[in-house]
Amino acid sequence: MKIFADTAIIKEIEEASSWGIISGVTTNPSLIAKSGITLTEAIDKIVNLVDGPISAEVKESNAEAMVEEAKTYAKIHKNIVIKIPMTIEGVKAVKELTKLNIKTNVTLVFSMSQALMASSAGATYVSPFMGRIDDLTEKDDAGFKLVKDIKEMFKTYNFKTKIIAASIRHINHVEQAMKAGAEIATIPYKVLKKMVKHELTTKGLKIFAEAQEK
Ligand code: G3P
Repeated sequence: MKIFADTAIIKEIEEASSWGIISGVTTNPSLIAKSGITLTEAIDKIVNLVDGPISAEVKESNAEAMVEEAKTYAKIHKNIVIKIPMTIEGVKAVKELTKLNIKTNVTLVFSMSQALMASSAGATYVSPFMGRIDDLTEKDDAGFKLVKDIKEMFKTYNFKTKIIAASIRHINHVEQAMKAGAEIATIPYKVLKKMVKHELTTKGLKIFAEAQEK
């Protein structure tokens, strides 16, 4: 499973990409607002830090306007993927962008039906939101089941759309995404940092350091 950074904070992307394990970046309007820069400024910087798919979300909500907005982002760099919300207008925009050979990531996906709509329109990626579906259902495996069901459905019908497991809140979500067969997980910086840690690793390092001193 490939690791994407789910952030628009440039310092976080710089740091995580220096580890050599980041294959792409996803942003959304909330993450852009948090970064303190505009979407275009963020894209301009991120394309120089990560050589992989970089999702930029449209602000428009009508299909024609979404397509026009998408074209302006797609022109910036070959790695730009247009993030489109799961609505009827969004589905129409994805269909159009697919014809134009512009890659898309359909976001805010919470059911197999929505994933089917996105995939049928030609979406390059779908983003099921694990954390938010867990919150809604008050279950800690609803996100896992969602990703697993979508994965099986894509396999059954031979859809080429890839799954980006999103709304990842903790390491368990990352591991559930792997078990469910997501091709990609987009992970916030604070979870990325936790992924290298284990209490027994810390304990083991201490024991070895003490042994070396002796
Ligand atoms: O990639 C989508 C993600 O950023 C949403 O996460 O934590 O706001 O549900 P969250």
